[in-house]
Amino acid sequence: MSKTMERGILKKKTKDGYERKLYHMELIGENYLPEIIELQDVVVNNLNMSEIFQSDSEEFFKYELRKGGKIIGVFSEKKLIAYRFITVPKTDSMNLGIDLALPKKELERVGHLETTIVHPDYRGNGLQRKTLYYALEIFNEMNCNHICSTISPKNYHSLRNVMSGGLVIKKLKEKYGGKMRYILHRDLKQTPRKEYDKIIDIDNVETVKRERILEQGFVGYQALKKAEGFAVRYGM
Ligand SMILES: CC(C)(COP(=O)(O)OP(=O)(O)OC[C@H]1O[C@@H](n2cnc3c(N)ncnc32)[C@H](O)[C@@H]1OP(=O)(O)O)[C@@H](O)C(=O)NCCC(=O)NCCS
Repeated sequence: MSKTMERGILKKKTKDGYERKLYHMELIGENYLPEIIELQDVVVNNLNMSEIFQSDSEEFFKYELRKGGKIIGVFSEKKLIAYRFITVPKTDSMNLGIDLALPKKELERVGHLETTIVHPDYRGNGLQRKTLYYALEIFNEMNCNHICSTISPKNYHSLRNVMSGGLVIKKLKEKYGGKMRYILHRDLKQTPRKEYDKIIDIDNVETVKRERILEQGFVGYQALKKAEGFAVRYGM
């Protein structure tokens, strides 16, 4: 069923440094669920902040795949080492377009970036960005107009990578039974903005400030690494 999207060489962490290994990327289906769940377990057991990641159940994967969702798998040495899961929520109440008050007729055209996972030994190869590039192509083919995603405000790596794909922070909200999440959005009909008239950098621990700025209509479009933690650059 599957067709290779990309092949190349990546670096794999070893106890002495790095080794170069071949990888390839392809769309995968339900038959890979045992490997997906196994990889998810490895990553969850390796998190230093458990609140930054929301696991997906096997049932959720199956439900979404049958509704049109897709999984991009990355393989090296015949093993799944990373994946990106995308869905099309359509009329589901969890459609993030509802949180962003998109017009009702646009909700059918929303695509969600769900989870992305890279095995710790293969991080630093830009796999989250690479799979995002293909996800955007798939969403375009599915006639989606809007891409939405939730990301923990503490997840610097994920914020930086997803914002590099033109998604901007529009809202901060409790999701998944009480976890704070930024809601990010990109209108696929528009070229992502690179310049804004007003710019403000807010340290990520300034929780009140960042909520106020979003209420004023600013959007967060860049994550800036600092000596301690990181800041988000907002523009209007
Ligand atoms: C977020 C994630 C997918 C990014 O992986 P990635 O695409 O390999 O990351 P990048 O290639 O952008 O990494 C850039 C740098 O940040 C480092 N880095 C990436 N993720 C890191 C992490 N979770 N912790 C510490 N450092 C990390 C990389 O090692 C690399 O460092 P280098 O430049 O010195 O080599 C990965 O960290 C991950 O699987 N995290 C756990 C699950 C998660 O939070 N998913 C996103 C929300 S669904």
